[in-house]
Amino acid sequence: MSTLPHGGAVELSIAPRAASDDDEAHEEVNGQGLGPTGRPKRHIPEPSLIEHHGPARVLAMCNQKGGVGKTTSTINLGAALTEFGRRVLLVDFDPQGALSVGLGIPAHTLDQTIYNVLIERSVGIRDVVIRTCVDNMDLLPSNIDLSAAEVQLVSEVGREHSLLRTLRPVLDDYDYILVDCQPSLGLLTVNALAAADGVLIPLECEFFSLRGVALLIDTIDKVRDRLNPKLEITGILATMFDPRTLHSREVMARVVEAFKETVFDTVINRTVRFPETTVAGEPITTWAPRSAGAKAYRQLAREVIAR
Ligand SMILES: Nc1ncnc2c1ncn2[C@@H]1O[C@H](COP(=O)(O)OP(=O)(O)OP(=O)(O)O)[C@@H](O)[C@H]1O
Ligand SMILES: [Mg+2]
Repeated sequence: MSTLPHGGAVELSIAPRAASDDDEAHEEVNGQGLGPTGRPKRHIPEPSLIEHHGPARVLAMCNQKGGVGKTTSTINLGAALTEFGRRVLLVDFDPQGALSVGLGIPAHTLDQTIYNVLIERSVGIRDVVIRTCVDNMDLLPSNIDLSAAEVQLVSEVGREHSLLRTLRPVLDDYDYILVDCQPSLGLLTVNALAAADGVLIPLECEFFSLRGVALLIDTIDKVRDRLNPKLEITGILATMFDPRTLHSREVMARVVEAFKETVFDTVINRTVRFPETTVAGEPITTWAPRSAGAKAYRQLAREVIAR
């Protein structure tokens, strides 16, 4: 395993530092013991400590709509899971490399990425995995090279299982492997679904975001039927919720009505803190540990462990 020194982060002079740490508490919406989903608040038990690690539960972070919080949720859920003693591997499965960059890793300068593991039989996953700034959280990085894989894999035997073959050697090293998918339902995303135990669907609290979900669920059903019988929907995560707007609350009500218990109790509010953490190159749980955003992702980690 190679290790990149952290600290280079993203070289932008606007990089904010030393976040003031407390911001708006947002859990209580109406003072009647209801959570932001409109359902009664439930107690989620403190996750039990584990003595042995692995085999990993693989979760695909998936939505073909762009900009809904897939990458942000991958980084912050991963970091929150490590706070509960879990070992986590993040897989950047988007040629844009936003997950790698969001962790302060200059992916465009890397010689070897997930692309090489997928395509070159001589490169193993352990040659490419790198440590991140978060203890017990590793990254399988990606960059623009991965865009060629989609074309090259088409002619491969067992092309839908390429990611599963790639991950198999390290499944016992981790408790969770989170795969950050690109915004499409192409072959890379099908690979992520074929390798996954569960799908986590981030859904922006905005009217148009409901439109594509039926197609996504249809794709998940097909992958379950044809490639991966164990695949389930772990949960739908409402993101970019603004409790002050009627629109956000109406979309939330529709989502809960349509998907019921599949919707996580945890809701991620819209806050400028998340774009800031991307510039800082670290998760919100370390950059602003007491912020509402950090607390929300910790709560999500509890729910994911409990499901
Ligand atoms: N809860 C939030 N509040 C405000 N901004 C957010 C929130 N979550 C994410 N963002 C910002 O929205 C933008 C898109 O988020 P992100 O990259 O996580 O989405 P994505 O689904 O991975 O996008 P893509 O489909 O392009 O991969 C980023 O600038 C991110 O910082
Ligand atoms: Mg992304």
